[in-house]
Amino acid sequence: MVKIFDITKWTIKEWVQTIGTRDKFFVENPNDEKLYFFKESIGKFPSEFWSEIIASKIGTLLGFNLLDYNIGIYKTTVGCICESMVEQKSQELEHGISLIKKAVKDFRVSERPLILFNDVEKSFIPYGNFIYQFIEMLIFDSIIGNQDRHSENWAIIRSIDVENLEYNNNRFLKWAYEKYKQSGLHLRNIPFKKYLLSTLKDAALVNIQFSKIYDSGSSLGREISESNINTYLTNDTELKKYIKKGQSEVKWENAKINHFELLKKLRPKFGTHISKVIENVISKYDADKIKKMIYSIDNELAANFQESRLSLERKDLIIKFIEFRITEIKLLLSENQD
Ligand SMILES: Nc1ncnc2c1ncn2[C@@H]1O[C@H](COP(=O)(O)OP(=O)(O)O)[C@@H](O)[C@H]1O
Ligand SMILES: [Mg+2]
Repeated sequence: MVKIFDITKWTIKEWVQTIGTRDKFFVENPNDEKLYFFKESIGKFPSEFWSEIIASKIGTLLGFNLLDYNIGIYKTTVGCICESMVEQKSQELEHGISLIKKAVKDFRVSERPLILFNDVEKSFIPYGNFIYQFIEMLIFDSIIGNQDRHSENWAIIRSIDVENLEYNNNRFLKWAYEKYKQSGLHLRNIPFKKYLLSTLKDAALVNIQFSKIYDSGSSLGREISESNINTYLTNDTELKKYIKKGQSEVKWENAKINHFELLKKLRPKFGTHISKVIENVISKYDADKIKKMIYSIDNELAANFQESRLSLERKDLIIKFIEFRITEIKLLLSENQD
C-alpha cells in the first residue's frame, strides 16, 4: 500500500519557506515530469513524517478525502512525499486564512491567528457545501488527534477551464490570458487577476473545490518521546487522559477545546451530517487492516535507513491511540442518537 520514491536524482523546483531547518520542497520526477512535494520531520519530532503517511492511509481506509502521502528518500534523509495538488498552468491553491480574511471584517492577523469555527463557516458562504467537507476534516482530525489544523492547513483549489477559454468572446480576457500563457507564468501571477477571475467565473470557466486533506502529521501522538511510550502503552488511564487533553486548533467562541467537544458544539446545526460521516467511518473501520498497515509501513525501507524506522512500541501506541479515538467517536454517535 505504501510506496517508496527515491528522489535524490529528481529536479528540485522550489524550496518552500521553512520553520527551523527541515527540508521541504517541490520536486519533479524527470521520467514523467510529475510534480511532487517532499518534507522531512522537524528535528524535535523525528517520527512526524510517519504520522503524515499513516494518517493519510488511515484516512483513506475510513473513507475521507486524503492526499496520498508515501515514503520519500532524499540523499540520506527519509521523509514523506505526495503529488502536487495543483496543476501548474490551470490551478491555484488558496489557503483558509485568505478566505477568512476576506469574509471577516475585523479579523486580526498574527503569527498564530485565532481561528473560530464561526469565522470558517462565514468564509465558506460563497462556496456552497464546503462547510460540510470542512466538518468531515474535523471528524478525521478527532480520529487522529491532529493538533495543528491551522488555517494554512486547509484550502480550496481553483481551476480554470483552459480548453474553453479561447472561445470566450471577451477580448480583454483573451488578451490577458494569452499574455499569461506566453510568459509561462503561474496562475497565481495572472495579470488583472481579480477582474479576470470574476469574469471567468461569470463565464462558468472557473471551478472551485475543497482540497484534499493535507498536512496531518502533527497527530497520532508524534510528540510523545520514545522513552515515554511505555507509560501510555501499559496504562490505559494515562492514554485516555492524554487523548482528552488533545485540543483542536479550530476554536469555539474564543476557546480551544477538545476535538470531541468541538463536534458536540456543532451538533445543533450539523448533527445529521456528523452522524452520517461517523456511521460511514464505523462501517469502514477494520481494526485488523489498520494494524497490518501500520506494522508493515516501513518494511521495504532499505537497511541503511534502519534508524528512520518506527519502533515496534510506537506502532503499538499508534494502533492503540486510534482504537481509543474510534471508541470516542462511537460514543459521540450514540449520544447523537439520544
Ligand atoms: N501536494 C501539494 N500540492 C500543492 N501544494 C502543497 C502540497 N503540499 C503542500 N503544499 C503547500 O505547501 C504548504 C506547506 O505544506 P505543509 O504540508 O502544510 O507543510 P508544513 O507542515 O510545513 O506546514 C501548504 O500550506 C500548501 O500551500
Ligand atoms: Mg502546513
